[in-house]
Amino acid sequence: MNKYLKKWGEKVVYQIFPRSFSDFDNDGNGDIKGIISKLDYLQDLGIDAIWLCPVYKTEFADAGYDVLDYKEIWKTFGTLDDFKLLVQESKKRNIEIIMDIVLNHTSNKHQWFLKAIESEKNKEYNYYIWTDKPGNEQSIFGGSAWEYVPSLKKYYFHLFAKEQVDLNWGSDFTINAMADVIDFWYKLGVKGFRLDAIQHVHKEINENGQFTHSFGSQMVNYLQKFLNKIYEDKQDIFLIGEASGIQPNTVVQYGKGEQKIADNFYNFSLWYIGWGRETGRNGYDANWSIKQFANQGAIEYQNNEEIENHMISNFLSSHDTSRAISRWGDEKLYWNESAKSLALYQFSLKGIQTILYGEEIGLKNPIFLNREEFKDVDALNSYRIFVDEKKIYSEQEMTRFHNINGRDHARVPMVWNKTINYGFNKGTQPWIKMSGDYLNSSVQEQENDKESILHFYKKLIKTRKKYKNLLIEGKSKLEILENEIIKITRYDDQNTIISLINLTKHEKEILNFSYHKIIMSTYTDGKEFKGTLRPYESFMFLVK
Ligand code: GLC
Repeated sequence: MNKYLKKWGEKVVYQIFPRSFSDFDNDGNGDIKGIISKLDYLQDLGIDAIWLCPVYKTEFADAGYDVLDYKEIWKTFGTLDDFKLLVQESKKRNIEIIMDIVLNHTSNKHQWFLKAIESEKNKEYNYYIWTDKPGNEQSIFGGSAWEYVPSLKKYYFHLFAKEQVDLNWGSDFTINAMADVIDFWYKLGVKGFRLDAIQHVHKEINENGQFTHSFGSQMVNYLQKFLNKIYEDKQDIFLIGEASGIQPNTVVQYGKGEQKIADNFYNFSLWYIGWGRETGRNGYDANWSIKQFANQGAIEYQNNEEIENHMISNFLSSHDTSRAISRWGDEKLYWNESAKSLALYQFSLKGIQTILYGEEIGLKNPIFLNREEFKDVDALNSYRIFVDEKKIYSEQEMTRFHNINGRDHARVPMVWNKTINYGFNKGTQPWIKMSGDYLNSSVQEQENDKESILHFYKKLIKTRKKYKNLLIEGKSKLEILENEIIKITRYDDQNTIISLINLTKHEKEILNFSYHKIIMSTYTDGKEFKGTLRPYESFMFLVK
C-alpha cells in the first residue's frame, strides 16, 4: 500500500472548535494563539494531527462554515502570522494541521456573491445556482432552499442556511478556485484537508421535480476534476471527505480505484439514531438500542475487508453532534467508566481515530435553559419552524431535544482548570454558555489523577501505537453478542486483540470466553475478569 496513506492511517486526530478552545487575548472568543499555548498539552496527550474547524474570515452565521475569504483568518481568531506560527510550532511536535475546506458554498457576503447579485453579466453570476421559479426544495437547516434576490429578480440555491450560498460545481471556475484555496494553505505547510460536505456538490432536480442533494450523478466527475488539479503538483496531501451516510460499498467505490474522490471518509450515520420520526435531526426518539449503535455506525464498515484502515474516520462526537457521553453513556454514577468504555470502543475499531476537544476529559452536555441560550443557526431555525410555524413541538419539547442532540454542546469552552471560566480565559464572558459542573474534572485535575479519563486516553493512544500491527493494521471483526456486549476482534496471521465492551448500566455475563491478558480496562480496582462485566466495564485483551 502507498506508504503515505499508511502513515496517515496511523494518526490520531484531535478536533478543535477554535472559538471555544483557549482564549489567549481574553475577548471571550478562543483564538489561534490560544491553540498554540496548548500544543504541549496536545503533544503530551499523544495526538498526531489537529483538525481545525474553519478559521477563515466569516460572519459566523454557521460557525465559520460561511466563508467570506478563504485566504484570510477571521480577526477574532488572529492573523495569518499566528497561523504560520501554529503550523511551525505544531511541526516541531510532530503534529500536522488539517484545514476544513468549505467547498460547497460561500457566505452570501463573499465578494463573489456580491458581484453576482450586481448583474447577471458579471462572471461571478455563474459561480452560483439560480432559478426564476423555485420548486419545493428544502434546505437541510429547514425552510425553502431558494432565496429571492430583488436586484436580479431571481432565487439562489442554498442547501444549508440562507447565508450559505451553494456554488455551482458545474463550472470550472469553482473547481479551480477551490483547488487554489488548497494550494494556498498547502504552501503554508498544511498537508491534511477535510473537505466539507463533499457529497452535496452536485444537486439534481429531475423532470419529475425529484430533488437529490447527496451523491448526485455528477459528484464523482466534479470532484475528480478537482482532485486532478490538486494532484498536478501535490502528491503528499491527505483528503478526508465529509460524507455523512456514506455506505460501506461506496466507501470502497469512492475511496480507491477509478472513482476515487477522497482518501478517507468521515461518516456520522451513527448519529442518525434516535432522530425524531416526524422531524428528523430536530427531534428525538428515545427508543434506540446498543445494537443499533454498533450496527449503524460500525459493523459493516469494520467487517468489510476492502475498507482499509486509512479509509475511514471514527469518532464519538464532533462539532455537528452533542457530546457522546451524554448521548450514549452515563452522565452520573458511571461517568468515568462510561467515558472510558466509549473510548475503548472507538479505539478498538479499524480506522483513523478522531477526538473532539474535551472528549478526553469526559465533557458532557451543558444544560441550555431556553432558546435564547442556543447559538447554532440550525437549532434556532428549528424553533422557528417546528415550534412557531408548524407547532409540532412545544417550546419545552424543542429545548429538551436540543439538550439531547443539539450541536452547541460540542462548541462550549474547554475546561482547563479550576480558575475563572475554567481557565478558558482571564474572565471575560465567553461567547457561548460555559460547560456545567466541572470543578473537579478539568484538565488540571485529571492530569494529577491516574484514574482519570484523561490518563485513560493517553494510555489508549500509546496502546494503539504499541500494538500497531493489530490495532491499526490488523483486520477487524465486530459482533454484537446476545446480551448487548460489543465484541471487537483485531487480528493478523499471528496475534489477536479482543475488546469486550459493556455500554450498559447492567452487569453482563459473558459465556464461553476464556481469560486472556488484560491490556486495557475501564475500572481501576484491578479486579480480574471472571466471566462478568460490571456496568460500563470493558476490557481489551491480548490473546496469546
Ligand atoms: C458540514 C459541517 C457543518 C456545517 C455544514 C454546512 O456538515 O460539518 O458544521 O453546518 O457542513 O457547511
